[in-house]
Amino acid sequence: MSRILLIVGGGIAAYKAAELIRHARRAGHPVTPVLTAGGAHFVTPMSLAALAESPVYTSLWDLKDESEMGHIQLSRAADLVLVCPATADLLAKMAAGIADDLATTLLLATDKPVVVAPAMNVRMWLHAATQANVATLRARGVTVLGPDEGDMACGEHGPGRLPEPDDILRRIAPMLEPDAAISPVEAQPLAGRHVLVTAGPTHEPIDPVRVIANRSSGKQGFAIAAAAARAGARVTLVAGPVALPTPGGVARIDVETAQQMADAVLAALPADVAILVAAVADWRIANPAATKMKKGGGPPTLAFAPNPDILATLAERPDRPRLLVGFAAETDDVVANATAKRAAKKADWIVANDVSGDVMGGTDNRVHLVSAAGVEDWPEASKDAVAAQLIERIAKEIA
Ligand code: CTP
Repeated sequence: MSRILLIVGGGIAAYKAAELIRHARRAGHPVTPVLTAGGAHFVTPMSLAALAESPVYTSLWDLKDESEMGHIQLSRAADLVLVCPATADLLAKMAAGIADDLATTLLLATDKPVVVAPAMNVRMWLHAATQANVATLRARGVTVLGPDEGDMACGEHGPGRLPEPDDILRRIAPMLEPDAAISPVEAQPLAGRHVLVTAGPTHEPIDPVRVIANRSSGKQGFAIAAAAARAGARVTLVAGPVALPTPGGVARIDVETAQQMADAVLAALPADVAILVAAVADWRIANPAATKMKKGGGPPTLAFAPNPDILATLAERPDRPRLLVGFAAETDDVVANATAKRAAKKADWIVANDVSGDVMGGTDNRVHLVSAAGVEDWPEASKDAVAAQLIERIAKEIA
């Protein structure tokens, strides 16, 4: 076990610090929270104290009552100092050596490894001042985690998001003393397994500038790949054209067409588990034009040819993954269609989702798990939560 001094800065991501405390404690690491004045606008000392089962320190002047050198002791009693979220302001103060509150004083006084997990608006992160401060901190040996890329609370998109708390913990794990009470098998149920995931749409060319596409965002497949990696699996993610960052610990192969996706999947075998989440085009244009089609030629007549069915192909192979999971995106008769698809494609499980609403591109999903044992209706949840639940089930199934 390692004692973590957790400095919570003021930002919308501060709520994730609470989650981080839970994960850290579950992994056997005691956490002492320090809340900045800014952080206290987003989370309360009471909630952090309850989760950490430790006093929460907020002011330099409280410590002076305890003993002359309270802040020095506090900063040294930890094995690791983690600043999460680290705001642009905190990073600037750290780089400049400013110590005008408890958090910055501790950061100046500590002789322990320091990790910062920045989270802020994209522009603030990309600003030359912040980048220079981060470079300074890195040069001084501070570990910088993230930020991740994605949609931000402020409505913008880009780097600036705080990584998920379990991801932060996984990334600092090498710096922490393992807790003997926690068996690695328990924490990483898919360790030593190869999990193959397809995600996103495919693009089937009509001519050099036009494609037939679909509305799949790839979010559910990427969330599943991320969850499998967190569970310790070696993950190969074959992704159609999507604008999503690669989850940590995942080997990604980008493809465009169904044929390329099929080739990449077969090349990635053998796998213990294949989870085919991609919305693969059933048809491609039989003879895509070699040059751009012109309007003057009148409305084109497009001839189609069938694409390989990746799921059905995998099911028939001698090196069939032990657990083959397909998805069925349906707008009507969801469970009946999924049950028929499971039989037709010889998949072990079909995860059926109703895409008649705004599932495609949205963040939530409501799915039914169709297996030989019957149909389970899962409650509507975020795509991340669906992914975590599915990976947990898969780990149990192949244990
Ligand atoms: N799938 C695949 N290769 C294809 C088509 C689909 O591997 N060429 C996989 C999908 O990744 C998914 C499952 O098969 O896991 C079901 O996909 P879906 O598009 O719903 O099924 P289709 O067979 O295309 O059925 P339909 O479009 O008629 O509903």
